[in-house]
Amino acid sequence: MIIATTPAQLIEALKPLHGDIGLVMTMGALHEGHLSLVEAARAESDHVVVSIYVNPLQFGPGEDFDAYPRDLEGDVAKLDGVDVVFAPTDEAMYPRNPLVRIDPGPVATVLEGKTRPTHFAGVLQVVHKVFNLVRPHAAWFGQKDAQQLALIRTMVADLNMPLDIRAVPIKRESSGLAMSSRNTYLSQTEKEQALALSRALEAGKRVALDGGSASQTLAVARESLTHAPGVKMDYLELVDRDTFMPLTESGNGLLVTAAWVGSTRLIDNLEVVIG
Ligand code: PAJ
Repeated sequence: MIIATTPAQLIEALKPLHGDIGLVMTMGALHEGHLSLVEAARAESDHVVVSIYVNPLQFGPGEDFDAYPRDLEGDVAKLDGVDVVFAPTDEAMYPRNPLVRIDPGPVATVLEGKTRPTHFAGVLQVVHKVFNLVRPHAAWFGQKDAQQLALIRTMVADLNMPLDIRAVPIKRESSGLAMSSRNTYLSQTEKEQALALSRALEAGKRVALDGGSASQTLAVARESLTHAPGVKMDYLELVDRDTFMPLTESGNGLLVTAAWVGSTRLIDNLEVVIG
């Protein structure tokens, strides 16, 4: 496995590789969720590139950029069957403050984008750059970050980017907690309190399965999360799976939530079908 820390090193490392290159982008602190993306990429690619980069552009003021867990050596040890790890420095990734920017459009202003207004522009900037450097046949992203996945699909479609985007289901702890690098911030008590997110989504899903309406599904899920101890809800919404606009009648929905557990902000989502 080659570890490239600059675009030039990456390009050099890719030169001898023939066939389809699969890409998995991460910010490190790798867990089984990330590794399931790598597995999926390996199954459909001749070679796999994994990027590990805590992208400053996607963190807002007062967010956890400095505190974000970084452990390149530990991460590399977890990777199996990966040809190249791209772990650039900030100087290598952004030799200057980029002048040309990706505008992620209206979906970036709701839900995650409402609380984190510059987040998705920063995500798409780095994703676009790494796509250009690696030129993969496909890139794998987790359903865990459903809004991010939708925006990446939109960028690829709107800009005719020549690759496929593949989605991988959310990997959860046996408790139901969605795996996340940010779970390392949680104390044992907070880990238990954090189960309120997946429980609230499951409660909503049961209502939908029993034939409940969109508003009943949403009300039950919200009620469940609002009363959970130690948890402060940021949002819990029922949206259309593709447009991320509120789902008020029948259709393929996604219950999406973000909440603070202590000082840690967590997100989760679950597919529901209404009607
Ligand atoms: P990061 O949070 O490290 O996640 C990297 C990839 O792993 C994303 O596609 C994310 O959806 C996926 N992932 C995280 N937790 C998962 C889980 N429990 N199950 C399945 N997949 C999971 O998302 C980012 O980094 C960044 O925004 C990035 C795309 C790398 C751009 O900087």
